[in-house]
Amino acid sequence: MRRIDLCRAKPGYCTACDIHTLDGKLLLAAGTRLTDEIIKQLRNYRITDIYIEDDLSRGITVVEAIKEEILVDIKSKVKDIMTSPTIKISVNAQKILNIVETLLNEILKNDFITMNLYDVRSVDDYTYSHSVNVAIFSLITGYAVGLRGNHLKELGIGALLHDIGKVMVDENILQKPTNLSINEYNEVKRHTFYGYEILKKSEGIPPIACDIALYHHERTDGSGYPYNLKNSVIPLQARIVAIADVYDALTTDRIYRKKMYPHEVVDYLCSLSQKHFDKALLDAFTSHITNYPIGMAVKLNSGEKGIVAKYNRGFHNKPVIRLVVDKNGEKYEAQKEANLLLSPELRIVGVWDI
Ligand SMILES: [Fe+2]
Repeated sequence: MRRIDLCRAKPGYCTACDIHTLDGKLLLAAGTRLTDEIIKQLRNYRITDIYIEDDLSRGITVVEAIKEEILVDIKSKVKDIMTSPTIKISVNAQKILNIVETLLNEILKNDFITMNLYDVRSVDDYTYSHSVNVAIFSLITGYAVGLRGNHLKELGIGALLHDIGKVMVDENILQKPTNLSINEYNEVKRHTFYGYEILKKSEGIPPIACDIALYHHERTDGSGYPYNLKNSVIPLQARIVAIADVYDALTTDRIYRKKMYPHEVVDYLCSLSQKHFDKALLDAFTSHITNYPIGMAVKLNSGEKGIVAKYNRGFHNKPVIRLVVDKNGEKYEAQKEANLLLSPELRIVGVWDI
């Protein structure tokens, strides 16, 4: 299977994965032949990417970081919590802890904790998907830097609820497709205080989770908000969530901007290490995520083009590529692979739009 932008989908393409709505309803089953009508429906649901099965990609299987049915269930539970009538007053700590424990179990099952989380989702599911993804990325980073047991769970709770204060901010401001006025931007920034207040009032929420809501927009050079804190004055857990938050936001389509590819976001974050982000934490984060997810079509420095077919254990940014065309643009007749771990002269230089 391979992953394509929905705008490249054509009638006749065959879907490789089930696509669910956030409520767990099956939108489109794997193996469905696309028609103009189906593509239009997916566009209406604001799905941005899909996996297809074709001759170029047959036999390539995507390793799921977390099983899709578990992820769908978790996102729907997060949606229920965040849309509960009492959310502006307090959150149910036990329900949040159960979600974090499920995520943690799934992540720890993945023995080399490399993530293929570049998942299929609708723009509309952003809030809930974002919370869950930030929790997953934060837990992985926290684990990588040695957090264990309750420390890890508390990080997960704070990460899942980092933006809870946005329930207090006017939806019209949050969804505004154009630039915000200064007043509107200041109101958005207040979500850190709002979140802190909600979590403080919630029984069973650990203090560090409240701090994550308050400090996740602080930046190591003091350029963040609300207090312009610097370096280690910002709690470690909030520094972790800051990285996960920006990474997930930039790899996702939003109403006001197109998503960036994972490798572009990693380059961007690294360019800001020491300024906005803690370098050691950023290193821990980037060494556990995949720049080029399985199924992505890529260009190599040799001029050849192909599809990421599988990872080399521990070296997820040196994957095995199924080569499709040679440097002259001629299609390879027989199936050919390049293992980037065994061919150090080869590297991925960009995404191939097919
Ligand atoms: Fe935030």
